[in-house]
Amino acid sequence: MTSENGRPVAVVTGASRGLGSVVANFLAGSGYDIVATARASSPLHEAARPWERLGATVVPVSAAVEDSAGRAAVQSAVHTLGRLDVVVHNASELGPSGRPKLLALSPDQLETVLRVNVVAPVLLTKALLPPLKAAPAALVVNITSDAAVGAYPGWGAYGASKAALDLVTRTLAQELADDHVSVVAVDPGDMRTAMHQAAYLGEDISDRPLPDVTVPFWAWLFGQSPARVNGLRFQAQGERWEANP
Ligand SMILES: NC(=O)c1ccc[n+]([C@@H]2O[C@H](COP(=O)([O-])OP(=O)(O)OC[C@H]3O[C@@H](n4cnc5c(N)ncnc54)[C@H](OP(=O)(O)O)[C@@H]3O)[C@@H](O)[C@H]2O)c1
Repeated sequence: MTSENGRPVAVVTGASRGLGSVVANFLAGSGYDIVATARASSPLHEAARPWERLGATVVPVSAAVEDSAGRAAVQSAVHTLGRLDVVVHNASELGPSGRPKLLALSPDQLETVLRVNVVAPVLLTKALLPPLKAAPAALVVNITSDAAVGAYPGWGAYGASKAALDLVTRTLAQELADDHVSVVAVDPGDMRTAMHQAAYLGEDISDRPLPDVTVPFWAWLFGQSPARVNGLRFQAQGERWEANP
């Protein structure tokens, strides 16, 4: 697979708003072309306009991350752009709004959270493995949460899914190391977004920072050699971050 124009390429899922749009905007400004996904088409196309003004070629894919047709559409978009350097698995399912207790969730609700937050990133990584392996040094970023370690009441299904994603991160980091594909987990910290508002339904979340607060972290992470961060878990709102020596 050869590059069309020499620019690196990133896939960002859930890129139409919140953290995903901040990461895509940062990557576009750093010279990446972008394959951006979200289910709703019109906000995704709207979000992509400033990235295009930054010089990026953007291929919007309106699809759910858990759908096989969506995976195929992302594969095809990557093929069109000719290479793949970064994948950010950002799209996520909170589950029912308002932080219901774990045992109040229906089988469907439990399965959807796990399908979107764990199974989908694994299957999309698998689908994108050939172009990732073809890159000189690729990086897969799994967006996790403090709920993965906190055992907070009301966050059980989402927290369990992010804990599983953390383990997936560490496992794939070892399994793909020989292919020069590195994998990290990033906890972005609390942010004022639609998902956060859905968790705190009807509550004032104006004290939480906007997702732009994570930009210094992305500047640091994407400036690292992927192999030096392989298998690590970062807190994007931390004061400093360290790679492996
Ligand atoms: N906000 C926080 O405080 C916080 C804290 C810790 C971790 N996180 C993590 O940060 C990431 C981003 O969250 P956010 O707060 O920025 O959320 P958000 O503002 O609600 O944005 C979610 C994005 O994902 C898309 N999306 C949702 N479900 C999808 C699906 N099944 N398939 C494809 N796209 C989907 C949404 O667009 P459509 O609805 O059109 O699909 C949207 O673009 C998530 O992984 C979340 O778990 C957030």
